[in-house]
Formats: sequence, C-alpha cells, structure tokens
Amino acid sequence: DQLGLVAVGFSGGQCKSGVDAAPSALIESGLLADIQETLEYTLYHDGVVHGYAKHLPVPGTDLPLRTAGAKAPMINPIAVSSVTHALCDQVYEHASKGRLVLTLGGDHSIAIGSVAGTAKAIRERHNGSEMALVWVDAHADINTPESSGSGNIHGMPVSFLTGIARPPKENPDVFGWIKDEHRVNPSKIVYIGLRDVDIPEKKILKDHGIRAFSMHDIDKHGIGKVMDMALDHINCGPGQEGMPIHLSFDVDALDPYVAPSTGTPVRGGLTLREGDFICEVIHETGYLVAMDLVEVNPALSGDGPESISARETIRAGCSLVRCALGECLLG
Ligand code: ARG
Ligand code: MN
Ligand code: MN
Ligand code: MN
Repeated sequence: DQLGLVAVGFSGGQCKSGVDAAPSALIESGLLADIQETLEYTLYHDGVVHGYAKHLPVPGTDLPLRTAGAKAPMINPIAVSSVTHALCDQVYEHASKGRLVLTLGGDHSIAIGSVAGTAKAIRERHNGSEMALVWVDAHADINTPESSGSGNIHGMPVSFLTGIARPPKENPDVFGWIKDEHRVNPSKIVYIGLRDVDIPEKKILKDHGIRAFSMHDIDKHGIGKVMDMALDHINCGPGQEGMPIHLSFDVDALDPYVAPSTGTPVRGGLTLREGDFICEVIHETGYLVAMDLVEVNPALSGDGPESISARETIRAGCSLVRCALGECLLG
C-alpha cells in the first residue's frame, strides 16, 4: 500500500511555541521506519517539514481580525489560511492518487487543510460522494470566529470545514480558498473523547445535530460499544455500505498522564489503550483514507520533567499512528 506523508511544523493556530517541532520529533523517534519496514507501506514524502516561513505575511500585516460580534479577534488569520491552503493542495495530491495520507502537525488548525484536501479528492474519486470525519479530541474545535473566547484558530477548524463558519467576505485572504468541494457534512462527523467543550460550542453541536461521544459516554458504555455506535453513525458498521474516513486525532484526547506534552491538556482523558483501540477499530473498517496527528508539543511538560514528558507523548503519538496504519497485537 502507498502512504503519503505531509509534515507540517505549524504553531500559528494557538499561542504556544514548540508544537512546530513535533513532526521532526516523531520522525526522529523512528516512525517512518516503522511505517515502511514493519507496516510495509511504500512511503511518499518530500522530506520537508513544511513551516510557516514561506507563508508568513509581511510583519505587521497579519493583524488580529475581529469579525462583527466576536468576543476575541482571530489570531494569525492570514498565516493559518495560507498554510492550510498549501497543506490542502499537498494532501489532495496524495489522496487523489489513492494514497493513504498521514499529516503530522502542528496544532489542530492544520486540519482545515488536511480535511479539505481529503474531502476534495474523495469527491473526485467517488463521483461526488462525501467522506466521514472522526474527530478524537478533548475539545470540539467547532468555535466560530464569533463564538471563540480565545481567538485561537485551532479551536475553530470544524466550523470552517462544515461551513458553520463562513470565511469573512471582506477578507478573501482569510479562508477565501475554502469551497464546497472541501467541506464535510455535519451529519458525517463523529467526535470521541470530548470533555472540555465551550458553552457556545455545545449549542453549535446541538443545533447541527452533530454526534459526539464524551468521556462520560466512554465511562458508561466502554470504548468497544462507543466505537460500535460511532461506526454505525457514519455507515461503516458491519453490514453497512461504508464510506471513506478521515481520522483527525488530537493527542490531548489522551489523558495528560500518558500525553502530558500538549498545549491544552485536560484531565480525565483516554488511556493509551483506548486511544490505540480507536485507531485499530478505524483501521479494521478498511475505510481509512487519511489521518492527522496533532498538538504534540515537545517543549511543554506536564507535572514531570520536560524530557520524559516529551518522550512519553511522542511515544504515545507514534503508537496511535501505528495502530491506525494496521499494527496488530497478535500476528
Ligand atoms: N475551546 C478552546 C478554544 O476555542 C480550546 C481549543 C483547544 N483546541 C485544540 N485543538 N487543542 O480556544
Ligand atoms: Mn484538543
Ligand atoms: Mn487551491
Ligand atoms: Mn483539537
């Protein structure tokens, strides 16, 4: 099988530096060797960690953008728009050739590009059909520029991807590149692992009928049952028709005990096995077409020493990717 890798060292969707170093850290820890040797993919990678430099607007021109009624202005809107546009094209390139696409972030704003690129390629390859989006995260990342309390775009990708947030008309440089072909249908989204959802986000989820499994649901039913229900919702359960799946995995879905090095940790998260299990189950469907792994920030530590925190978080991230790509426990 063929795997297209895009490494995006981008941190402009939030305010903490260090998440831009994640792709190199993941690669240096041996992830690509595992993908090629153990998991036997043919790897397509340009060997570059794509950053921001090329996309950085002239200093002083990427001003925070306050849309009408917003509580906080959007931060780095032009840089995020331009990096995600470039990423969209790169992911589209791989996906349109039928490759499974792995995007290593970077903060979660980059999913605007990766998901848009996959969605477009899938529409073209499967004459107009939609794909499903499985979003594993402590957060819903569905704020609009108006509802966001932080202005950080890593809290907004799902609203732009669904069209719940429309690119500001007066600023075509800010997500003006997103067209219908890039968008995902809210009814084809399923969240897993939520536990820190802003009040306006709860209303958005409800108003749009978006299916979400919180940590409460996982406690109540167990991860096995939750995955059965999640797959059933996106038509990928046993006996169902099936549809291509994009898996967007924010490492902060895992409990900070296993993944401490991340920008917005929230206690009470998934165990490493629950995270790996989600990825294994998605792999087993045979419908996985793309995966993102985001928000690993080796520069941050939880309560422990920085080096150990970073090492453990990178290990956890690599494990998630290997499980999604088909590593199995037996045989
Ligand atoms: N809901 C908060 C916000 O809008 C936090 C988002 C955290 N997102 C993430 N990708 N870690 O800023
Ligand atoms: Mn998150
Ligand atoms: Mn374009
Ligand atoms: Mn996220």
